[in-house]
Amino acid sequence: MAEELIQERHDAVLLLRLNRPEALNALNIPLRRALAAAISAAADDPDVRAIVVSGGSKIFAAGGDIKEFADHDAPQIMALELQRIWAPIAACPRPIIAAVEGLALGGGAELAMHCDIILAAEDAQFAFPEVRLGILPGAGGTQRLPRAVGKFRAMRYLLTGDRIPASLAAEMGLVSELTPSGQAEAAALALAQKIARMPPLAVRQIKEVVLQGADCALPAALVLERNAHNILFSTEDRKEGVDAFIEKRKPLYRGL
Ligand code: HXC
Repeated sequence: MAEELIQERHDAVLLLRLNRPEALNALNIPLRRALAAAISAAADDPDVRAIVVSGGSKIFAAGGDIKEFADHDAPQIMALELQRIWAPIAACPRPIIAAVEGLALGGGAELAMHCDIILAAEDAQFAFPEVRLGILPGAGGTQRLPRAVGKFRAMRYLLTGDRIPASLAAEMGLVSELTPSGQAEAAALALAQKIARMPPLAVRQIKEVVLQGADCALPAALVLERNAHNILFSTEDRKEGVDAFIEKRKPLYRGL
């Protein structure tokens, strides 16, 4: 059987490509476990500086695997402790870029929203169809969507399951940048390579302060920012960046 999660190294970038074409990349539990394990391993590998999550050229993901849960009742769902599979993605200290082609539905859209940057092909579409199945987005969708686009736009789509075209998603702030159709993965790789060339400690601090600060009151968030800013002043990469600017040469950051 073909691997359901393809892993490729592109220099310091790890590409994770969902590969269940027969089920439109529906996120069954083995695939989600593989994704969580790959991201946990990448977090332990200092040579991986950025991650791309892609669904390939046709579809990002059609959601959670509906057939897998068809007969489950509440105690069975609770026993799965699915939040444990999502947690390593949410907690990953490396930047993660989602490359969305085609549809990102339900758990697929929630997977994209676990990432730090979402690139989407201009003909991609997002939707949260859970309401049509009598459930709700259970992997952060009811919380991350309103935080990204505001309550009134989020309600419009969470309560209907209607599709959000990529251009509207970009306008709403759900998509970072649109790419030509078929180019999302290549664009995400190029962007990830660019981030991977940045000073790793600064990248890590920026990600942490943005995410943690978003859940704090502004004065506390500004303290987080100030402390991270001050700490970075003692790094060798800060000295290298400033020296390279003054000496008019390219910097070489080493994560020190
Ligand atoms: C399991 C799925 C699936 C899914 C598609 N398939 N989506 N299997 N879970 N989410 C399977 C189909 O059963 C079919 O298998 C094959 O993929 C092709 O799908 P078709 O429906 O024949 O293709 P098409 O007519 O092109 O329609 C594509 C589609 C439709 C619009 C994406 O498949 C669809 O609406 N899928 C469900 C989308 C959805 O409701 N997602 C939210 C799920 S709930 P066979 O064997 O019949 O050929 C969710 C909550 C998650 O995500 C919570 C945490 C993860």
